[in-house]
Amino acid sequence: MKQQTKVVVAIDGPAGSGKSTVSSALAKRLGVERLDTGAMYRAVTWEALYSDVDLSDGDALAAIAREADIDVRPEMVVINGHDVTTAIRSAEVSEAVSKVAANEAVRVVLVERQRRWIDDRQGGVVEGRDIGSVVAPDADAKIYLTASREERQRRRKEESADCLASRDHIDSTRDASPLTVPEGAKVIDTTDQSVDDVVEEILRCL
Ligand code: DC
Repeated sequence: MKQQTKVVVAIDGPAGSGKSTVSSALAKRLGVERLDTGAMYRAVTWEALYSDVDLSDGDALAAIAREADIDVRPEMVVINGHDVTTAIRSAEVSEAVSKVAANEAVRVVLVERQRRWIDDRQGGVVEGRDIGSVVAPDADAKIYLTASREERQRRRKEESADCLASRDHIDSTRDASPLTVPEGAKVIDTTDQSVDDVVEEILRCL
């Protein structure tokens, strides 16, 4: 990775822990861009479902991750010219995404793309499951957000409790870069905290 001139903040945590809300507010405060890496895994999953690719065909999934034109911005997600901003949040994609994200070959390609995103911008706020552990282990701050299961389910009310529990299980037990608290990360429980309080706590880590 090149020398960064802006700050790099890695934000990891399970679904509903507050990553997207906190990352957006933090990026604004720091005047840097934000990357939602979960949206990249979701976009690849959407493309696989759209193209009728068998989700157990690792080579085909990796080919999508490698060859697809993926543009993830805070306000819009586009893959191969399709605006999938809403579609990637569908129940169908939410149910399938953990399986795609557990594929090692897919991860290698997307991690490379995420590192390039950071290099191109010379920094940024990056959120996901393996940012502090794999994508940017030298980040200026490594944050792991958590929240009670009840609160996480309340925040993800569009997702069934079964789906959330199944994603939690697959994401944290898979062989390839499972969700863990990265070494040296600051753990913040967001259950009863305001977004501003969490952002202030992260800023104090920089
Ligand atoms: O953040 P999210 O819930 O939209 O992420 C969707 C899925 O993508 C999640 O179940 C796990 C996976 N993911 C991952 O494995 N690694 C990342 N860096 C980001 C997301």
